[in-house]
Order: sequence, then structure tokens, then C-alpha cells
Amino acid sequence: MMVPAAAATAAAATAAPSGLGPYPGSWAVYVHFPFCLHRCNYCDFATVAHRDPPRERALAACLAELSLRCEGLSPAPIRSVFFGGGTPSLWGAPAIGAILAWLDRWAGLDADCEITLEANPGAAEEGDLRGYVTAGVTRISLGVQALSDRRLRQLDRIHDADAARAALATLGQLRREGGLRAASADLIYGLPGQTEAELRSDVAALLDHGLSHLSAYALTIEAGTPLQGLVARGLAPTTDDGHQAAMLELMPQLVAGHGLQRYEVSNFAVPGSECRHNLAYWRGHHYLAVGVGAHGFLPCTLPGALGVRTANTRSVAAWFEALEAGRLAEAPREVTTAESHLDEWLLTGLRLRDGVDLGAVAVRFGDEVAVALVQAALAVPGLQTVGGAIAVEAAAIVRLDDVIASLAGSVSRRLQSARAAKRRAARGVGVG
Ligand SMILES: C[S@@+](CC[C@H](N)C(=O)[O-])C[C@H]1O[C@@H](n2cnc3c(N)ncnc32)[C@H](O)[C@@H]1O
Ligand code: SF4
Repeated sequence: MMVPAAAATAAAATAAPSGLGPYPGSWAVYVHFPFCLHRCNYCDFATVAHRDPPRERALAACLAELSLRCEGLSPAPIRSVFFGGGTPSLWGAPAIGAILAWLDRWAGLDADCEITLEANPGAAEEGDLRGYVTAGVTRISLGVQALSDRRLRQLDRIHDADAARAALATLGQLRREGGLRAASADLIYGLPGQTEAELRSDVAALLDHGLSHLSAYALTIEAGTPLQGLVARGLAPTTDDGHQAAMLELMPQLVAGHGLQRYEVSNFAVPGSECRHNLAYWRGHHYLAVGVGAHGFLPCTLPGALGVRTANTRSVAAWFEALEAGRLAEAPREVTTAESHLDEWLLTGLRLRDGVDLGAVAVRFGDEVAVALVQAALAVPGLQTVGGAIAVEAAAIVRLDDVIASLAGSVSRRLQSARAAKRRAARGVGVG
């Protein structure tokens, strides 16, 4: 499903108060909880290890940030809320409930609002998970990562496979009871030494729990992490791109028997259970984001601007200090123009099975860009045009970055030459 051009036009035309906007017809909201019981050695997310995180203080700061950020924003209905981290399943149901109540008072949560909570085995017991569902959570994304103790130790996780299985069983139970609408798990693949048989067995065991969604990420050795330090000193093996690409290619086949299909390079769902919140990011919609290190994309009326990017500090201390003094803790805002936005739009949109919708491109960037995109797509191997959209062929997903780079380069060259021709025509030279 892509954004229909007519709907996008209608959304763009929505008037906003106080000169801000144009506004989306609905909001997606991200809320970050920046604490974990332990910091896994591969992770570079904005989080710090804390045995007893300051839940109340984080709630007060988060509500303060919401008040500051929403001043002057148009309160369109909220279609998705995502509590990410860090480990937001440590926050407690009262905090999650208080944030949802605040958002409901501000703009109204849609009746079928998707409300996701990231949870970790070992940091969410059965009673906790049930409490979150009672507080309004409709979707839980469980960070399983692997289902063997050996691989979990290799990943420096604090939980074992039994804890992961127990949490998965609870999700199954909550879904059967009807309170939880969707259950997802995160898996990390391509660990040094991991075999395809292990991946096969982990995926099958995970999906046997009746999950409606699976995210599978290749282990990335992030700069500045303890894992990168170990690899650099030869104390841990590094990953192998070919090994990871082979596993990525295998994934659709491993999930198919459980009714899941790939809808984004790393994400698989039972049709209809795709993550609405992440789709909003990948389709380039505006969204509001609060919390340590959170990045948002707000509407903006400056001439030529498509939106404004906001980026909060990654320092927990600076975030608390600013909000407790009544101000935001963000970097200077960055205005996104059509030029800067197009590459990003292609980079995320082409990760989707349904690709980039040409009607939406025409609405956001103009007909000239949509035409250049179609012409460029015809010339770049690995791309196809389907139902008014441009998408990457399944067989080309393993070389996605190269395909996107070729497409972006070709679009840019075509636009430059089309614009140069226009300028020449306007001056009355070189035509014919
Ligand atoms: C923001 S993390 C939070 C999830 C949760 N705290 C957990 O760890 O279970 C979201 C997901 O990103 C993935 N991830 C984080 N760092 C990664 C890395 N270096 N390589 C691959 N996947 C990574 C993991 O699958 C993780 O579940
Ligand atoms: S992977 Fe999850 S649990 Fe581990 S440090 Fe990162 S956010 Fe925390």
C-alpha cells in the first residue's frame, strides 16, 4: 500500500494554525526510554546501563518534552505510538499509561491506534507484559535475538533461551486472550560461526509461537562499541558480508511456511500485520519524537521546505537537565528541501517491497522528478515498475545499496540535464 496521490494532496492542503504546517492528516509518535539493565557489547543505541532506572524522573521529563514540542503543533489524530529504547519494558505500565493519556488528551489516539512497546526477555515478566496491554499497548516487539544459549552469550545478552521462550509463550497467551493485537520478535543473524541450519531452527522455533511479525537484522559491528574494540584487537571474530547476504536471501523462504512475507528488507509480516509506525518512517511521513537521542520530522512552511528534522541530545544527563529547566535538549533543527529529501526518500522507500509510489513522488517533489525517476529506473538493472510504483526486484535485494546509489545518481544527472535544457530554452539557445 502506498500513499495515494489524492490523499497526499489532501494531507498537504490541511491548514494548520499559527502558520505552521502543512500538516499530516495523522501523527506517528516515537517515545524513547534510554535505560537497559545491561549494555550489550554490539549496541550503539542511545541507552545507558542502570540496575534501577529513574522511571518517575524519566516520565516527568518525557511529559515535559511532549508539552514543549507540541506547543503550536496541529493536534491531528494519532495513528501509531512506538515506545523504543533502550528497554522501555523497564518503565512500568503506569508510565506508559500516563504518556498515552497525555497524547490522547492532546490529539486523540485513533480507535485502532497501533501502540508498540519494545520488551526484553529478562526485563519483562508475564505480569509486566499483561500490565502493559491493560495500559493500552497493542503490539509487543520482543528482543529475542537468538534462541540458543551459545549464541546469546556470544551476543552478550543477559537472558538465556529459556527466558526468551517464556516471554514468547506469554505473547502467544496475550494474543489468544485478545488484548494484544500483534506480536513481533527481533532476531540478529550472521554471527561469526553461525550456520544456516541454526538460523533455520531459530526462525522456525520463533514462529512456532504464532508471531505476526519478525524483524531480522544482520549483526553490524558498530564504530565505538565494545564489540568493535574486541574485533579490532583480534579478540573476537568479525562478520562476513557474503555469509550475511546468503542468510538474508534465505529469510523469505524460512518465514513463508508460517504465513509471513517480506515487506521491507529486514521485516516480515503476516499480511495486514506490517508495522504501521515504521511504515510511516519508510514512506517519508512526518512524525513526532521525544526522548534521549530521538529524531523527529516535523512539518514546516518555509518556502521550498518539506519538513524540519529534530535531533535530541544523546546524553541522558543533558536531556534531564534541559527539560528540568523547562527547555528542549536538541541540536539545531535542519530544514529538509526537495534536493536533500529525495535521496533519503529513495533510500528508505526502496527498502519496501511495494517500493516508491510515483503519485506520492509527484505530489512531494513535482512531476519533473517523477518523470526523471521513471526514466532512470528503466535504465538501472534490478528495478521494476509495478502498479504505479518503482520497486527493487527480490533477486537484487542483496545488492540494494548499489542499486539505490545507481538510481539516485541517474536521477540527479537527468534532472541536471533537464534543467540545463530548460535554462537554454529560456535563453533561446541550443534548442532544436
Ligand atoms: C533498539 S534495539 C532495542 C530492543 C531491545 N532493547 C532488545 O535489545 O531486545 C532494537 C533492535 O535492534 C537490533 N540491533 C541493535 N544493535 C544491533 C547491531 N549492532 N546489529 C544488528 N542488530 C542490532 C536488535 O535486534 C534489537 O532488538
Ligand atoms: S540491544 Fe537492546 S538491551 Fe542491548 S543495549 Fe541495545 S537497547 Fe539495550
